[in-house]
Order: sequence, then structure tokens, then C-alpha cells
Amino acid sequence: MKRALILLAAGQGTRMNSDLPKVLHPLAGAPLLHHALASGQAIEPERMIVVIGPGETAVAAAAADHSPQAQSVEQSQRLGTGHAVLQAKAALADFSGDAFVLYGDTPFIQPQTLTRMVEARTAGNDVVVLGFEAVDPGRYGRLVMDGNYLERIVEFKDASEPERQITLCNSGVICADAKTLFSLIEEVGNENASGEYYLTDIVAIARARDLTATAVTCDETETLGINSRAELALAEAQFQGRARLAAMEDGVTLIAPETVYFSYDTVIGRDALVEPNVVFGADVTVETGARIRAFSHIEGAHVGAGTIVGPYARLRPGTELGNDARIGNFVEVKSAQIGEGAKVNHLSYVGDATVGAGTNIGAGTITCNYDGVFKHQTTIGSNVFVGSNTLLVAPVTLGNRSMTASGTVVTSDVEAGAMALSRTPQQNKPGLAEKFLNRLRMLKERGAKKDN
Ligand code: UD1
Ligand code: MG
Repeated sequence: MKRALILLAAGQGTRMNSDLPKVLHPLAGAPLLHHALASGQAIEPERMIVVIGPGETAVAAAAADHSPQAQSVEQSQRLGTGHAVLQAKAALADFSGDAFVLYGDTPFIQPQTLTRMVEARTAGNDVVVLGFEAVDPGRYGRLVMDGNYLERIVEFKDASEPERQITLCNSGVICADAKTLFSLIEEVGNENASGEYYLTDIVAIARARDLTATAVTCDETETLGINSRAELALAEAQFQGRARLAAMEDGVTLIAPETVYFSYDTVIGRDALVEPNVVFGADVTVETGARIRAFSHIEGAHVGAGTIVGPYARLRPGTELGNDARIGNFVEVKSAQIGEGAKVNHLSYVGDATVGAGTNIGAGTITCNYDGVFKHQTTIGSNVFVGSNTLLVAPVTLGNRSMTASGTVVTSDVEAGAMALSRTPQQNKPGLAEKFLNRLRMLKERGAKKDN
């Protein structure tokens, strides 16, 4: 059985009060839309159609960015969920199989839940709806059941008092054979409290055609939809709570889990330890036994096994740390490979560089990688000793086992085993310090007398 995903993302998101389309707001470092598309992967869709609002090319671009196979179709007028699904009909004209409708603003639908819907379809139900027992059913659509069969869905606005007492609610996720789905929607009208074409009406229409419908249920936390920034923050908290637990179950020690922030794709190996107040941006992998010390900010980086990062370190995209390396306090690394056992322990910037194994980078070293227009590369060999406060004016290479004297400004390559030294020779003037200071003190005293 082939399956297609139809993702509804044409909503205006008015309550976000934002210039950014709602589905592009980030959750755990990725747009809401990406989370929804990732959930949808569980059905292994042959086709993916994203229904976008008029002119929302940024949403189409974000969909393509996540899944090159995703195809966007525009809903020029927002006439309801049924109307929105119908926009996918032309794009799926040559498709036969099941269609699954998901919402772009609902990021937490679990793979097992969609798998159970697939099973309910395989078991012969024509329409399968995902429902949930709501703690506070509020304005959700209500599922009117007859035993195991779903009779119809009634929207809150259109529901009678007894129907409003129903706590089994509609999540919005629906699946049916694609051709059947579109033919059912063709029959949907808009004579209801909202004047909209409700997708939910297809259940009663299916029943009238003697088709069967049923509901699969999931936990309410999965169906959380985001309509406001407060709900976005709530979703973020939910995501983080789950990610922290999952990391600990995977064998990662979190000293203060509630202070560690993960991205949607953070991967941390077994027996790694993360100290308090660490933020993981997108695209980070940390190998086993590594230690991320407090107040570090890490994104787009790979941290080797046994490596120690921080406290107060910043790893930016393109950072590759080998095994057993050390990145200390107030060190920033960007687009750089740091070899096995290499150390950058204090107050340094290493960008657009490679640092060989066993090399020691002294405090305050800076790779001067940017000339105001172009970026340049610094290449540092293995077992190099870079003295404190060295400026490496890129492009420049330090050969293996070479050395720079503290304070050196390196502007040309240093061959293997050589020492680079660029300092003005020191002069000592006997007695000058005392003489100089005494004169200043005398001037200060005279000034004070004048003021009195
Ligand atoms: C819908 C369901 C309701 C369910 C609830 C779950 C209908 C009629 N009602 O109500 O039973 O309990 O979701 O959250 O389906 N959208 C479009 N184009 C439109 C209208 C909506 O793309 O013309 C998209 C929205 O972006 C959103 C989703 O469809 O992602 C749901 O729309 P929304 O207006 O939030 O529906 P509800 O009234 O919440
Ligand atoms: Mg809604």
C-alpha cells in the first residue's frame, strides 16, 4: 500500500503576532514544519504535499529544505480544513493509495501512533481518525462514537450541550484512501457555525455511504498544536523534558537536567557528562566519555571521545574536535579541526584552522582569519607549541614540532621544528620606574594643594 502525506500549513497564525509564518517558528532549533514533516516520515510517504497560504514561498522553501520530494500547493483562500485538503487533489491525481492529513503546527505526533493508524486502515476501516481524551476539551471537535465505530465529528461551535460533554476529541489527523478522501470532501458543504468547509464532515458523509470509520487514540501531549508564543514555549518545555530524559536513558549524565537545552537532532554518546547550563544548537554530536562543562554553547560541532569542553566554551559550526582534546574557558572555535589530544585551554579564537594532534595553543592565541573581505586558513601541525598571545595572521602554516614565542605575530610560514619570534627587544632602564612614579605622585600632590 502506497501512502501520501498531506500537511496543512495554510493557517494565518494570527495569534503568533508575527511577520514569520507560524510553521516557520523554531522549536528545538528547527521550524515547526520540519517537526511535522519528520512525524509524517513514519508512514513512509511516497508523496508529500504541503498546503501553504497564498504567496508563502518561505514555507514552500522550508518544506523543500526538509524533504526535496515535498511539493507545495497554494490554498488561495482559507476556507477551512476540508477545502485545504482538496488543494492537494490535482497534485495527487496520478496517485493511488492512502492519504494521511497532518497539521504543520502539530509537532509531536509519534511514529507508533501513525503506525497504529496504518494498522487500523489495513484492518479494513475506510476512514481512520486520530482522537485523544482531553483533560479540558475546550473548543476541539468531538468524536461521536457508536461502539468501536466513529459516527461523526462535531465541531465545538456546532455541538449541542450533550455533545460538548464528550471528552474524546479530534486531533485533526485523518487517513483514508486518497480517491475516497477527495470524493468525500467534494460533498462537504459550509453551512455551519463558521461558514467553513470542515474536513471533519467527511466522517458522517462516509457513514451515509456505508463506509466504516473508526478512531485510534493517543496521548494528549502528542496532539499539542501551536497557536501562540505561549503554546510555543510550552511545546519547547515539553520537547526539552523528553530530550533530557531520553539522553539520561541513553547513558548520559546530566547534573542539572533542567538547565541543559537540546536541539531536535542532538546526539550524545554513552557515559558523556554534561554540566549545568549548556546549550546545544543544531547539528551536534558528542562522543562517549566526553565532558561538556558548565555554560558552554555548542552548535554544528563534533566532540570526540574523552574530550573536555568548557566551562564557558563556544563551539561554532564546522568544529571537529578529536578524541581527548581540551577546549577551555572563553575559547571560541569555528570551522576548525582540532587533533587528538590537542589543547586550547584559555581565552583563544581558533577559526578556519586545522590543529594537529598533541599541539598546545597558549592562552590568548588568535587566528586572524578575516581581512575584512576574505577568510583565510591557518594550518598548525602536530606537537606544535604556540606561545601565549600569538597572533596567527592567516593564511599561515606552522610546521610540526614548531614553536612560537609569546606575543609573536606570525605573518609567514614556520617550518617544522623552527621557532618563530617577533618581538621588539626589551630594554631595562635602571631606577626609571621609581623616578617616574615619584614625579607623578609629586604632580598629584601639587594639584591637590591648588584645589584646597
Ligand atoms: C480543527 C478541527 C477540530 C480539531 C482541531 C484540532 C476541523 C473543521 N476542525 O479545528 O475538529 O479538534 O483542529 O486542533 O477540521 N488550515 C489550513 N487551511 C484552512 C484552515 C485550516 O491550512 O483553510 C490548517 C491550519 O493551518 C491548521 C489546521 O489546518 O494547521 C487546523 O486548522 P484550525 O483553524 O486550527 O482548526 P481548528 O478550528 O482548530
Ligand atoms: Mg486549531
